[in-house]
Amino acid sequence: MHRFSLFSCLSTVVLAATFQLATAVDADPPSNGVCFCTEYSQISVAVASCTAITLQDIAVPDGGNSIDLSKLKDNSVVTFAGKTTFGFTNSSSFDPIILGGKGVTITSAPGAIIDGNGQAYWDGIGSNGGVPKPNHFIVVKLTSGSVIKNLHIRNWPVHLFTVSHCSDLVMRDMVLDNREGDVPNARSAGLAAAHNSDGFDVGSSTNVLITNTTVYNQDDCVAVTSGNNITVDNMYCSGGHGLSIGSIGGKSDNTVTNIKFSNSVVVDSSNGPRIKTNFDTTGLVSNITYSNISLQNISSYGIDVQQDYLNGGPTGSPSNGVLLENILFDNVTGTATSSAKNYYVLCGEGSCKNIVFQNVDITGGQKSSSCNFPESGCPT
Ligand SMILES: *[C@@H]1O[C@H](CO)[C@@H](O)[C@H](O)[C@H]1NC(C)=O
Ligand SMILES: *[C@@H]1O[C@H](CO)[C@@H](O)[C@H](O)[C@H]1NC(C)=O
Ligand SMILES: *[C@@H]1O[C@H](CO)[C@@H](O)[C@H](O)[C@H]1NC(C)=O
Ligand SMILES: *[C@@H]1O[C@H](CO)[C@@H](O)[C@H](O)[C@H]1NC(C)=O
Ligand SMILES: *[C@@H]1O[C@H](CO)[C@@H](O)[C@H](O)[C@H]1NC(C)=O
Ligand SMILES: *[C@@H]1O[C@H](CO)[C@@H](O)[C@H](O)[C@H]1NC(C)=O
Ligand SMILES: *[C@@H]1O[C@H](CO)[C@@H](O)[C@H](O)[C@H]1NC(C)=O
Repeated sequence: MHRFSLFSCLSTVVLAATFQLATAVDADPPSNGVCFCTEYSQISVAVASCTAITLQDIAVPDGGNSIDLSKLKDNSVVTFAGKTTFGFTNSSSFDPIILGGKGVTITSAPGAIIDGNGQAYWDGIGSNGGVPKPNHFIVVKLTSGSVIKNLHIRNWPVHLFTVSHCSDLVMRDMVLDNREGDVPNARSAGLAAAHNSDGFDVGSSTNVLITNTTVYNQDDCVAVTSGNNITVDNMYCSGGHGLSIGSIGGKSDNTVTNIKFSNSVVVDSSNGPRIKTNFDTTGLVSNITYSNISLQNISSYGIDVQQDYLNGGPTGSPSNGVLLENILFDNVTGTATSSAKNYYVLCGEGSCKNIVFQNVDITGGQKSSSCNFPESGCPT
């Protein structure tokens, strides 16, 4: 960082003087500058002018303001530093952070934290009504060797990362902590205050790696709803709904192929591996591997495959329009609670092919496991 460079959007040392310079930059943007921003209002100039941008202690004001990094220059590096905070926006149709570009790196300085001010929104019902909430805290549209790394994020209002139409993207080394939302608040009628707080929702994306990340939340740790060649590795997932494919069917993209979940731990969650598809829709779920997944204290299903979702919930009646094929569970082990089922597989008529359980051993669940596929039934 060159504090006194023409290309600073603001120097913390000489406020007034550099503000003048920042205005000059506006008129004649450098092609490759360094911008150091300490105010929300400086970000748009920085994005238009610089490829090395630091966002230091940014306080995003109330009223629908996004940290809009959707048009970053190619190969930009954006560093969040200090504490990034958000006001309140009474709307469900804005995105607090938008990331877009080619070959972009989004990272944090040591000790930095991004706090989504979930407390201003949480009411126990997430995106199902109540207080208007930004449904997607960080919308990611990055391609071509982009990396998101080292972020420490807490208190996101509803879903955290929405990864859509991305390719060649790595997301790694993050701590995503929504534990404060486990506690009921005055609006949540005794329920966990945070709801629908998925860590990663991935759709219509290819060649994505999500790795070495800890997620404490109240819904899917990772949910892949469409896309090809997506790897989710070395995750620690706590408090949520597990490592999910789905729900698939009835969306604009209903094909999910070549997905690997590996070397991960899922604790204190309702499910471990889970694949769910929607009733009377069409789609393809092919080449899915869960390997070396360790489970602990799983309260609904250790491993869950269901083809009976309708209006967001299971009905018990599966349909067969979404084909599930080449699904491997390899070395998925651990414990479920006594009120859980270790295994549950509910396939439609003829719509599951080649589902294999290998070295799978989940214990503790006392409700009878039930698997209508493969013909040999649940693992024993
Ligand atoms: C948010 O807007 C709704 C109308 O959409 C209104 O009923 C509510 O009072 C507003 N809440 C706040 C905190 O401004
Ligand atoms: C994993 O991520 C943590 C930060 O959450 C980091 O400290 C650690 O170095 C990373 N491990 C590897 C092998 O990159
Ligand atoms: C799949 O994605 C990974 C990145 O996660 C990439 O290294 C690999 O080349 C991709 N495979 C294919 C066949 O494109
Ligand atoms: C299995 O996953 C765990 C993390 O849960 C990891 O520590 C271990 O190295 C993995 N084992 C292999 C053989 O990759
Ligand atoms: C088991 O997980 C539930 C959340 O599903 C949590 O409330 C409970 O404290 C956990 N139990 C233990 C012993 O950690
Ligand atoms: C599934 O994997 C096999 C072997 O790697 C490959 O030949 C096939 O094309 C894949 N299927 C899809 C739908 O990508
Ligand atoms: C199987 O899973 C256990 C628990 O995650 C792990 O310790 C072990 O390394 C895994 N073995 C292989 C071959 O992946």
